[in-house]
Amino acid sequence: MNKKTILLVLLSIAILILVSACSVSNDVENNAISNEEESNQAADDIQNEVNSNAVEDVETEEESNPINLISYENDVLPILLNSCIECHGTSDVKRGLSVITYAGLLAGSSSGAVIIAGDAEASKLINLVTSGVMPKSGARLTSEQIEVIAAWINQGALDN
Ligand code: HEC
Repeated sequence: MNKKTILLVLLSIAILILVSACSVSNDVENNAISNEEESNQAADDIQNEVNSNAVEDVETEEESNPINLISYENDVLPILLNSCIECHGTSDVKRGLSVITYAGLLAGSSSGAVIIAGDAEASKLINLVTSGVMPKSGARLTSEQIEVIAAWINQGALDN
């Protein structure tokens, strides 16, 4: 063998080593990527699980609480129209309190608010109907009717 051939052989060996080293490092990289994908997948699975649990929780809560959001228009107003309109309506507005509109009810009487949104216990209207002072004449409100109005106040006394 002459010098040239030996050099050529050495060079080919060097290239072979280089090429195999490259493919090993590629493998390592690919493994790292696929590991990352797997752990992303695992995180997604956990997130999905958490989400579906949360949905289930909300559903159970709704089932155990039959009184959902009380409606001013459908639940509260009819009670007031039935029992209070005679003295707190349009023709007669005792103490400046009109209960036939949402704005009138929230505006209160000449001595101030009769409803504190979010706090039924502190609301004058609830205290007066619970104690039976109001309605001043006629049948008292039933405890169910009072509960409906109180729940509506505690839910924020919304114009709903
Ligand atoms: C027969 C008349 C009459 C009826 C019916 C009546 N009220 Fe009154 N209401 C009055 C009078 C009169 C006053 C003024 C205070 C007083 O004389 O006790 C008053 C005062 C009030 C006040 C206090 C206002 C304030 O700030 O001092 C509230 C609250 C009230 N009424 C709520 C109601 C509600 C709610 C109903 C229906 C469930 C109702 N009233 C039905 C006559 C009536």
